[in-house]
This record gives sequence, C-alpha cells and structure tokens, in this order.
Amino acid sequence: MKKGDLLYTGKAKSVYTTDQADRLILHFRNDTSAFDGAKLAKLDRKGEMNNRINTFIMGHLESAGIATHFIERISAVDSVVKRLDMIKVECVVRNIVAGSLSKRLGIEEGFDLDQPVFEFFLKDDALHDPFINDSHIRAFSWASDAEIDAMRTLTLQVNDILKPLFANAGILLVDFKLEFGRDGDQLALGDEFTPDGCRLWDAKTRNKLDKDRFRRDLGDVVEAYEEVARRLGVPLQD
Ligand code: TMP
Ligand code: ASP
Repeated sequence: MKKGDLLYTGKAKSVYTTDQADRLILHFRNDTSAFDGAKLAKLDRKGEMNNRINTFIMGHLESAGIATHFIERISAVDSVVKRLDMIKVECVVRNIVAGSLSKRLGIEEGFDLDQPVFEFFLKDDALHDPFINDSHIRAFSWASDAEIDAMRTLTLQVNDILKPLFANAGILLVDFKLEFGRDGDQLALGDEFTPDGCRLWDAKTRNKLDKDRFRRDLGDVVEAYEEVARRLGVPLQD
C-alpha cells in the first residue's frame, strides 16, 4: 500500500490517502495535546506506543464483534484503516467520576458510579468540545435517530468488553471517548483507542496511567503508556 497525500492533520495523528480510495493511513505522531490544543508537547516514542496499543485494542474489539475501521499496523507509527464518513460527535462513557463530569456536577473525582454514564460532546476544539444531547444531534442533523441509538449502544458494548480486559491487567477503566463513522449504511468505530483518549488508573493505588499525567504535569507519561501496554500483553517489539 502506497502512502498518498496528507488529508487531515489532527492534534496527535495525521491522516493520509492511499492508492486505494477506500483505505487511509493513520500516522501516530509524538505530538501530545491537552485542553483543546492549549498545551502541546512532543513526547518521545508516544506515537509508536499508541499505534501498538490501538492495534491491540481494535483487534480485541473486532474479535468481540464490534465493527471497526482498523485493518492493519504497517509500521512503527502507521496503520491502515477503512475510510469512514466520520460523525462529528464524541461518545464518552464513564465508570468512575473524573475530569469534566467532576467539575460540572461538583462530585469528587474517584466516585464509583453504580452504572455507567453515557455522554455526547460536539467535536469542535474552537468551542472546547461542548456537552450536547440527542436533541441537539437531531435538530442540527449531525446524525439520525438510528445512528444516535447505535452510537450509544456500541459505546456501552465497548465498555462491557474493555472493562474486564483492563481489570485483568490490574487497571480501572475510568472513562473513554469514541468516535464513529458511516461505512455504507452501518456504523463502525473510527479514530483510536489509546491512553490519549481514556482514563486508566492502577487498580490498587489509583495512580494515573493515561494522558492526565501530561495534563497535570505528573511526568513519566510515555512510561505510563508503556506500563499499560506491558500489562495488557501488547507486543512491544516486532
Ligand atoms: P472529560 O472528562 O474531559 O469530559 O473527558 C472524558 C474522557 O474522554 C477522557 O478519558 C478524555 C476523553 N476525551 C478525549 O479524549 N477528547 C475529547 O475531546 C473529550 C471531550 C474527551
Ligand atoms: N483531546 C483534547 C486535546 O487534545 C482535550 C484534552 O485531551 O485535554 O487538546
């Protein structure tokens, strides 16, 4: 597969066309962003670590029956994916209160939820990814009723699949964000699943093993990602 033109540059990944119209290449960079691009850094080996972790998680989800765009990892920092028509909303599930939910409702970070909370956000950095609900999505035609239902159901299914995967590695899946796209008349999981887009805490100590280490200047960011990979059994060498 040949890498073509740069199609899109995100904050941590670049997307390239290929010689096949329905295939794209995701290029995982070392760039690390927080607070919608307000805080930026390059962290050595992060691109490679995220490409490896994403390959592992997407493979696990596919084998559990979730349709994803992932096809294969083709280099340390590149993976081939199916081209989707992306829906501009972010789907978040939370098992433990943290981050914006803690701020919005004034509930202490670390509160264990009896049942998962599902939230939609609009994918728009300039607006700081505002919190939205089904009604906004319908009113502005960002997605159909059936797609709204599918995004919620699929995100909760992913939670049911990944919670035990992380638990077996001694890690709490606190929360995560997914993005979906249209593949014909079906939805498929797009984007990535890496410690950049979720919160992972050590089950015993509740130490942070995700991008909050960068947001909060805790240090050892990529070391924590590597620890997650090691505990999950993600291959760290080819
Ligand atoms: P939040 O607590 O900031 O709302 O984030 C919830 C989870 O979703 C957290 O794991 C980070 C992830 N997330 C992103 O990766 N990108 C985003 O733009 C948003 C809003 C959340
Ligand atoms: N994903 C957003 C960013 O990269 C928000 C965040 O992670 O803090 O800036």
